[in-house]
Amino acid sequence: MKNVLLIASEAVPFIKTGGLADVAGSLPKYFDKTKFDVRVMIPKYTCIPWEYREKMVYKTHFYIDLAWRTQYVGVFELEWNGVTFYFIDNEFYFGGNKPYSWIHEDIEKFAFFSKAALSALPVLGFRPDIIHCNDWQTGLIPVYLKERFSQGEFYQGIKSIMTIHNLKFQGIWDLKKVKDITGLPDEYFTSDKLEAYDDANYLKGGIVYADRVTTVSETYAEEIKTPFYGENLDGLMRARSNVLSGIVNGIDYDEYNPETDKRIYNNYNQVTFRKEKWKNKVALQKELGLTEDKGKFMIGLVSRLTDQKGLDLVAYVMDQLCAEDVQFVVLGTGEERYENMFRHYDWKYNDRVSANIYYSEDMSHKVYAACDAFLMPSLFEPCGLSQLMSLRYGTVPIVRETGGLKDTVEPYNEYEGKGTGFSFANYNAHEMLGIVNYAKDVYYNHKREWNKIVDRGMKTDFSWNSSARKYEELYNSL
Ligand code: ADP
Ligand code: GLC
Repeated sequence: MKNVLLIASEAVPFIKTGGLADVAGSLPKYFDKTKFDVRVMIPKYTCIPWEYREKMVYKTHFYIDLAWRTQYVGVFELEWNGVTFYFIDNEFYFGGNKPYSWIHEDIEKFAFFSKAALSALPVLGFRPDIIHCNDWQTGLIPVYLKERFSQGEFYQGIKSIMTIHNLKFQGIWDLKKVKDITGLPDEYFTSDKLEAYDDANYLKGGIVYADRVTTVSETYAEEIKTPFYGENLDGLMRARSNVLSGIVNGIDYDEYNPETDKRIYNNYNQVTFRKEKWKNKVALQKELGLTEDKGKFMIGLVSRLTDQKGLDLVAYVMDQLCAEDVQFVVLGTGEERYENMFRHYDWKYNDRVSANIYYSEDMSHKVYAACDAFLMPSLFEPCGLSQLMSLRYGTVPIVRETGGLKDTVEPYNEYEGKGTGFSFANYNAHEMLGIVNYAKDVYYNHKREWNKIVDRGMKTDFSWNSSARKYEELYNSL
């Protein structure tokens, strides 16, 4: 039996701001339970809904030193869908109405979390063979593990994995302040360790000190070795390429299942979609005040509204995108200029554009179920889950060929009758528009072909089944 503790800053169903939460909360369910005991640890944010917090069971508490402060560490536990979750409690750090705030606060918050997580291990009654870290918030864990905790016998031999979900966010802050906060001595802050470009960099620490480094698709694992995608760490990624690999994400096929999903208006499956899926479209049109027309080509976009997602391309050709024979449904929050851009077009083309500038799990499922196509023209995309959700709901993804989008969406080939979606290569608004119009043409003028694309998409398997096996292999190799 191998014990694995997956540590992250968010996990469904407790707290989610993006795909990391989907991964941390769902992957652990899919391991072979006779061979792997995979548990999860996240902060006990006060913004986790009460329905979960009230069920958490207090295990123990103790104190640790962080900078000049002595800090309380509470440990809570909850079993959810057969997986044990641990929660690190400290309301000074994990209070407030959202998990993240200003970077300087988060830097201290996640130094605390990393130290507390490791300090809690001896009292959990669960000694992990492997600690699986995720993103910069947990970047200090491999550092502390190797350099500090390796002195204690309990910690000896524990291996660590650093999974990069997004290289853009590295946890960068003033070197001197980070020295104070972390208590790590000077020698860790050199350019082959925690220092990068004169600052301290948590993710870099994790990448340097972890025994293995992974990211969430094979293509992204290659891309980040190049300057364009490397976010100034491409040299390090090349240097670590012998321990770096890409394992594509899956999604939770129980949670995202058009046949049983209680959040959508009308259930359907791979056999009945031709007769049943459109009812979701009409119901959504009604709910959002769009023209009710089951034949209208409806494009969806569910996303954090940031540059990463290719929204400047969308903004550039928005008038042409929102042609009269198209409906465009947006669900997302993020940068103000994109929020306002979508609000503007909602006002301008009221009968065919709907901008929903908020976060709603329910609405996201409705959009995945209702739309004909899903637009995801990302500038970069480590994996992307939304396109997988779309495929699952028979909604045809239109994506840019980058990262996980390239690895999961097979472009339609009309001559060979292949493909599960539409894609374009260059980061260019008119190239995107061209491919959207191509998709629209297939939808309106070659309906049988369209339905076959849907059919092939719904048949693909991006459940965790195959990727969980790859993580098992990785765990076994350590
Ligand atoms: P990222 O993690 O970069 O944001 P992913 O595609 O991996 O991108 O995951 C995004 C996740 O967040 C998906 O589960 C998507 O449905 C969800 N999501 C994004 N924006 C919203 C929103 N406004 N309301 C509900 N869910 C959202
Ligand atoms: C990040 C990436 C996204 C990926 C998700 C989960 O947020 O932006 O592409 O799917 O992490 O790994």
